Amino acid sequence: MTKARDARFWNLIANRYSKLKIGDEAAYREKLRLTRVHLTPESQVLEFGCGTGGTARLHAPFVRHILAVDISDKMIAIARQRAADEGIGNVSFEVASIDDIGTDRTYDAVLGMSILHLLDNRKEVIGKVYDCLKPGGVFVSSTTCLGTGPLMLRLALPLARPLGLLPSVHFFEIRDLVAEIAGAGFEIAHQWQPGPKAAVFIAARKPG
Ligand SMILES: C[S@@+](CC[C@H](N)C(=O)[O-])C[C@H]1O[C@@H](n2cnc3c(N)ncnc32)[C@H](O)[C@@H]1O
Repeated sequence: MTKARDARFWNLIANRYSKLKIGDEAAYREKLRLTRVHLTPESQVLEFGCGTGGTARLHAPFVRHILAVDISDKMIAIARQRAADEGIGNVSFEVASIDDIGTDRTYDAVLGMSILHLLDNRKEVIGKVYDCLKPGGVFVSSTTCLGTGPLMLRLALPLARPLGLLPSVHFFEIRDLVAEIAGAGFEIAHQWQPGPKAAVFIAARKPG
C-alpha cells in the first residue's frame, strides 16, 4: 500500500524530475568517478531506485550489464526511451521494487542513489544488498541524511504523505547510516560528503 502510494507520487512528478538540472554537477561527476573505481568491463550491476536512468546510462559503457529498477513505471518509461535514443543496449530497465529482487543472482556492484532515506525498511534493504553481492562486491550509495530534520518537514510529512503529496522520507544522521551499513557486514571503502548539507557518498565492500 505504502509502495503503491510512493509509486503514484513518483509517477506524478516523473516528467518534471526528468527535466531537473543536477544541483551540484561537479559533485555528481566526482561520485561517478568514485563509483567507476569499483567497476570493470565484466561487472554485473544492479541499481535500485534508478529514476529516469541517468546514472545507469552514464555507467553503461564501463560495465557488462546493469539491471536498473524503479517502482515508478513513468520513470522507467523515460529511462527506456532515453537509453534507446542513445543506443545503449546493456542496461535493462524494469519496474520493480528492491524488495522484489531475488538473491539468487549476485552482482559485482549494487547502486542506490538518492533512495535509502526514502525506504521504510532501510536496514532490511541494506541486508538484502549484502546478500545480492558477490564476495568482494561493492554497494555504492548517495544519501541525504537529514538528522532530526527540519521541523516544518517533520510536521508536514504525516499530513501530506497519506494524500500522496510527498513520498516517504526518513530522518537519520550520517553516523547512523554508516553504522547500519557496517552492521550488515560491509567494510566502508570510501565516504565523502561534498558539503555540509550534501548527500553522503558511501562505497562499502562485502568482504571477499
Ligand atoms: C529521489 S529519486 C532518485 C532517482 C535516481 N536514483 C537519481 O539519483 O536521480 C528516488 C527514486 O526511487 C524510486 N523508489 C522509491 N522506493 C523504491 C523501492 N522500494 N524500490 C525501487 N525504487 C524505489 C522512486 O520511484 C524514485 O524514482
